[in-house]
Amino acid sequence: MEHLRLGVNIDHVATIRNARGGIHPDPLRAAKLAEKAGADGITAHLREDRRHIADEDITLLAKHLTIPLNFEMAATDEMLDIALTHKPHASCLVPEKREEKTTEGGLDAAGGHNMLQQYVSELRAKDIRVSLFIEPDIRQLEAAARLQADIIEFHVGPYCDATSGDLKAKELDKIVNAAQVAEELGLECHCGHGLTYDTVAPIARIPNVVELNIGHFLIGEAIFAGLEPAIREMRRLMDVARAEISG
Ligand code: PXP
Repeated sequence: MEHLRLGVNIDHVATIRNARGGIHPDPLRAAKLAEKAGADGITAHLREDRRHIADEDITLLAKHLTIPLNFEMAATDEMLDIALTHKPHASCLVPEKREEKTTEGGLDAAGGHNMLQQYVSELRAKDIRVSLFIEPDIRQLEAAARLQADIIEFHVGPYCDATSGDLKAKELDKIVNAAQVAEELGLECHCGHGLTYDTVAPIARIPNVVELNIGHFLIGEAIFAGLEPAIREMRRLMDVARAEISG
């Protein structure tokens, strides 16, 4: 069974920094600590309004990281230029609305196919792996395959946030089935958004999933446990869940 990679999203280190301005806490320092704690990659989302990660953070991450950088970006010309300048390991295209607190839904890869094609092609032409953040939905998967994306990341927020057991099981089922289809379509399968110690195991047990991207919960937990122990505990829970299916 393939190693389940952990991508640590450091956006909210920058959220705390920006609450006061200045330089503390430093997202690059957090990224380096995450690396030491067993992260396989670092994810950062440069939003149009720069509410957390700033341009300079991306410059420093691209320069100093020794593990892959997953650059989350909206499909805009401004972000495309930044990605082409820094050449991250991967770019994850996400929908973005100014008024939202966080990324609220998946990208409409099916409806936005013609607009997205140029972004996917230009990124791939520079050897940047392209990931599309989508709902676990067959129509979206087929569109991602037509766009020749390398990766799809499923928005698992509805599963994480489900308040009843029935609803959680239904949302998990959608992800399990969609992960199977992703593999059949030749798309590498990642999951992210809203994962916590309580919700990670069932996702980590899906055999076709190869990477989880986790941020907000880990940065919050770092207040109580410290960043390294919080990441190590998440890593442990992922490994335990994965071992259960490797027989
Ligand atoms: N993956 C994507 C595409 C995201 O937009 C986010 C949130 O920025 C995450 C993963 C991480 O989600 P969370 O911070 O809730 O763990």
